[in-house]
Amino acid sequence: MKKRLAIFASGNGSNAEKLMHYFAENPYAEVVLVVSNKSDAGVLKHAENHTVETCVFENADFVSGEEVLANLQQRDIDYIVLAGFLRKIPDTLIAAYARRIINIHPALLPKFGGKGMYGMHVHTAVKEAGETKTGITIHLVDEEFDNGEHLAQYTCPVNAEDTPATIATKVQSLEHQYFGPTIEKYITC
Ligand code: GRF
Repeated sequence: MKKRLAIFASGNGSNAEKLMHYFAENPYAEVVLVVSNKSDAGVLKHAENHTVETCVFENADFVSGEEVLANLQQRDIDYIVLAGFLRKIPDTLIAAYARRIINIHPALLPKFGGKGMYGMHVHTAVKEAGETKTGITIHLVDEEFDNGEHLAQYTCPVNAEDTPATIATKVQSLEHQYFGPTIEKYITC
């Protein structure tokens, strides 16, 4: 039986879109639900285009997480994939989905992680620190921000002429290339 994936996303959802595409014809898993905390998130449009069901919750629903969990259980969700989801995952969900929540972070953790490190903040910090490489980390989610076991990291060079914007483009291309295959490898081994 195919594993049933729910993607959580708050924004544009370019990674979510790539994942829906990647798993559309996949023998091992399918994306069956997109969850957001924003009713105008671009990711909802991508879900509609892929005829994937959506659920939008209030930010307050991610405090206890009980209602979110009930919705996931009703749909027999096996794995949660975080693709730019900007709320903290409630402990209820972390306990119910131990080692079954996967996140992507746009830097080489443990550097440039933690609270406030998202989006362009990450790439600006990488540039300001004078790093010569950056990349992505795909990892399991536990109770602490950006702390869970790493499943994979991929790197790209940061050159003197790079700006936070050009770094973002390089990192996003790694994300789009590797997120799907890394999820597939993890859930099939
Ligand atoms: C990605 O950079 C991802 O690493 C981070 O949030 C961003 C989401 O981008 N967790 P998008 O909405 O998928 O374009």
